[in-house]
Amino acid sequence: MWGGRFAEGPAAIMREINASIGFDKRLWRQDIEASKAHVAMLAAQGIVSDADAEAIRGGLETIAAEYETDGVTEDLALEDIHMHVENRLAELIGPVAGWLHTARSRNDQVATDFRLWVRDAIDAMDAGLAAFQAALVSRAGEHATSVMPGFTHLQSAQPVTLGHHLMAYYEMARRDRSRFADARTRMNESPLGSAALAGTGFALDRDATAQTLGFDRPTANSLDAVSDRDFALDYLGAATTTALHLSRLAEEIIIWASQPFGFVTLPDDYSTGSSIMPQKRNPDAAELVRGHAGRITGCLNALIGVMKGLPLAYAKDMQDDKPPVFETHDLLTLSLAAMTGMVETITFNTDRMHEVAASGHSTATDLADWLVREADVPFREAHHSVGSAVKLAEERGCGLADLPLPDLQSIDARIGESVYDVLSVEASVASRNSHGGTAPDQVRERIAEARAALGMSDEA
Ligand code: ARG
Repeated sequence: MWGGRFAEGPAAIMREINASIGFDKRLWRQDIEASKAHVAMLAAQGIVSDADAEAIRGGLETIAAEYETDGVTEDLALEDIHMHVENRLAELIGPVAGWLHTARSRNDQVATDFRLWVRDAIDAMDAGLAAFQAALVSRAGEHATSVMPGFTHLQSAQPVTLGHHLMAYYEMARRDRSRFADARTRMNESPLGSAALAGTGFALDRDATAQTLGFDRPTANSLDAVSDRDFALDYLGAATTTALHLSRLAEEIIIWASQPFGFVTLPDDYSTGSSIMPQKRNPDAAELVRGHAGRITGCLNALIGVMKGLPLAYAKDMQDDKPPVFETHDLLTLSLAAMTGMVETITFNTDRMHEVAASGHSTATDLADWLVREADVPFREAHHSVGSAVKLAEERGCGLADLPLPDLQSIDARIGESVYDVLSVEASVASRNSHGGTAPDQVRERIAEARAALGMSDEA
């Protein structure tokens, strides 16, 4: 019934379902690093002789060099990366290799390796996010005064500056980085020495291995240490929020690049043509960033599902923790690089943005504010009058600023000549000078703060 594939019978199926080497080989660097720290500590504590520890260290380095050049040779019978390394060590140095696993279990080993891997992943993600922020900040600097329509409900609402819009994504990335940093701080404790679940009777120095591996301290409870995957969930949570942010920007780029909008032109590097429609220039990279965000959300849900309801301590279900984390890391790394590239190279069609901002009566709120400020009209009443003005402009097929003063005065006699000073989109954005508002002066201040935070040179 199983056909040729499982001709070997149930033992082969067991081997296949049990094996994680196909994916956990990505932990080889961390596995070897942690083993070196462990054996050095065992020697320092007099548990393993210095000569044996030295032979083990040398063997581990040879394996690292082999993996570096040839990759990990997979053998399903050896299950996972931990057994692969140990087995190769025995091939290289003989029975002395057997001392390495003293006072250790694969349970604390994998918890340690995976934490180290996620910590590196967080550092890489932080660097990627910083590059993304730098791209946003430079483009925002070019466009601190460029006017575009600001939307709510995807309806023209009030004019904003493009620099302000781009800096909104800078803020999201700033929070993303702080979420990753927070996850890093919380996860930075060493499970090594928790052994299988209960700790060990050997006189270990857990502080020493923690320190060697760059952890802040050893974990406090061995049961928790071998069964905790919060660090992976924290990573996935931070990654999911980051992916959502990238997806929102991707969606905007897709909308902006569409012909009715025409706000941006994507460079050739980040678009593709159609095999049938020669005029097409598709925003595939942005669409894939949007799609990847869905897959990343799925990865977070996958690990939540794996962990939910597991009794203490270790259970083999937990081996399924790695694929969603690896998948997320790969997808998000690519998404981040693609979005950074798009932000750096996209052409903003500022004339078109300005034209759209100036249409659609986007300065209606400014007219209402003028009535409140200059003519002492209660806002609700002003709102009503401006509604009539918009209706009139629509009937005439013109903008608010094109309505002659007598017409405006027929709607509200208190309207005076100086109202025209606030009806242009430039005046509108300049007036929104509250802290964090869209006025070019505000945007320039925020950009200066961001450049300082990112260690970018002073703008020329
Ligand atoms: N490959 C395993 C994992 O990733 C290592 C731990 C195995 N421990 C055990 N008791 N079977 O979870």
